[in-house]
Amino acid sequence: MDRSAKFWDRIAERYSKQPIADEAAHQKKLQVTREYFRPDMEVLEFGCGTGSTAISHAPYVKHIQAIDISSKMIDIAQGKADAKNIENVTFKRSAIDEFTVPDQTLDAVLGFSILHLMDNKEEIIARVHKMLKPGGIFVTSTACIGDTMKFFKIVAPIGKFLGLMPLVKVFTTRELEDSLTDAGFEIDYQWQPGKNKAVFIVAKKAE
Ligand SMILES: C[S@@+](CC[C@H](N)C(=O)[O-])C[C@H]1O[C@@H](n2cnc3c(N)ncnc32)[C@H](O)[C@@H]1O
Repeated sequence: MDRSAKFWDRIAERYSKQPIADEAAHQKKLQVTREYFRPDMEVLEFGCGTGSTAISHAPYVKHIQAIDISSKMIDIAQGKADAKNIENVTFKRSAIDEFTVPDQTLDAVLGFSILHLMDNKEEIIARVHKMLKPGGIFVTSTACIGDTMKFFKIVAPIGKFLGLMPLVKVFTTRELEDSLTDAGFEIDYQWQPGKNKAVFIVAKKAE
């Protein structure tokens, strides 16, 4: 098991009990995402954590595959889905870097609080682009730390080395937008609830 999975396994229980930092912003992101959903949609969520987002979106689409690198996160998510009799979400332990689906078979891919944790976000964005059908959407919420806290580039590797935090990559909103458009996405919707808050983007693959 790699160090990233170990880190998330270690904090999974605590993470599941943490209240959402900004409930109003979270609800707005769910609502905007749902405006894109249709009942026949096949959806992938990567880095699903303890499953709350997948579970709350489940009634609005056909099926959600929800994956996470941490088996502890997946166990908690599965427990919550079972308790609510949710049958159209399949939780699976998998890293997004290893997860495969046939090309152009998904209608939507969701990745919340995850792209800034990826060593290779351009590769992940390219993989997502391949998985999506033409017109499919990639919905993300990403901490663009480079906008205001460039010093984090120095702090982050030290925190990771000490096991206090996962790998965190520092980039700006502009750089994230460029990564998405360079991969062939068009930005269809963008919202930042406030300074230093995660940037929410719905990116669309051309029809
Ligand atoms: C900050 S949490 C976000 C969880 C959830 N999306 C949310 O918004 O609450 C990041 C999650 O990504 C998972 N993760 C980290 N690296 C991953 C990877 N390469 N593939 C899949 N999941 C990963 C972690 O285990 C963790 O559950």
